Amino acid sequence: MQNKYPNFLLVDHPLVKKDITILRDETTKPDTFREAVKRISTVLAVNISSDFLLSTFKVKTPLEQTKGFSLKQEIVLVPVLRAGLGMVSGFLAIIPDAKVGHIGLERNEKTLKPAEYYNKTPRNIDSSEVILLDPMLATGGSASSAISFLKKRGAKKIVFACLVAAPEGIKKLSADHPEIKIFSAALDRKLNNRGYILPGLGDAGDRTFGTL
Ligand code: PRP
Ligand code: URA
Repeated sequence: MQNKYPNFLLVDHPLVKKDITILRDETTKPDTFREAVKRISTVLAVNISSDFLLSTFKVKTPLEQTKGFSLKQEIVLVPVLRAGLGMVSGFLAIIPDAKVGHIGLERNEKTLKPAEYYNKTPRNIDSSEVILLDPMLATGGSASSAISFLKKRGAKKIVFACLVAAPEGIKKLSADHPEIKIFSAALDRKLNNRGYILPGLGDAGDRTFGTL
């Protein structure tokens, strides 16, 4: 998969594997589910931010002057409502000054096509590093239309972060937006006939917010 889809990056780490198992377990309660989503999101944030550009400046320690670093570009997190909201606090844990935009998309359970119901993004999105957050990459319809929307708003540097990806979604996103890197904490087998990821974790929004 890594070679077939060069833009797909699996964040493979023992702690992530342990937390993905907590998410998969059908007996996990929403509070425990949210905590695991937060921890995995922080690991994703560490990986995604590893090639962020830096500016240098002079900083004075109590002893002498030395070189300091700051992020060159602003960071904008864009969770896809609802389930993407669960990933925000994990990213903010290590990128506390990131701005947060929102896109509201709901997948029609019959057609599996996403419908947009809300959006709000910061003004300087065109000069920022944008990280789109959605735990599930299933058919890829939601992520693809969210990326098209961000591009229309002027975003030039976008990466997509998810918790569980299906091959079908990776293929669609790679075809629609070949330059976008996809970071995922798990790569699953396939979709079932209702567009759910197998083995997956069920409906991420319902499991996050206890609306099952
Ligand atoms: C889920 C998930 C994604 C989408 C993925 O959202 O959070 O946004 O499905 O499916 P796709 O790749 O086939 O488009 P859902 O529409 O269930 O909304 P919710 O987060 O409000 O529950
Ligand atoms: N959305 C979810 O929340 N879960 C899936 O398995 C597929 C789409």
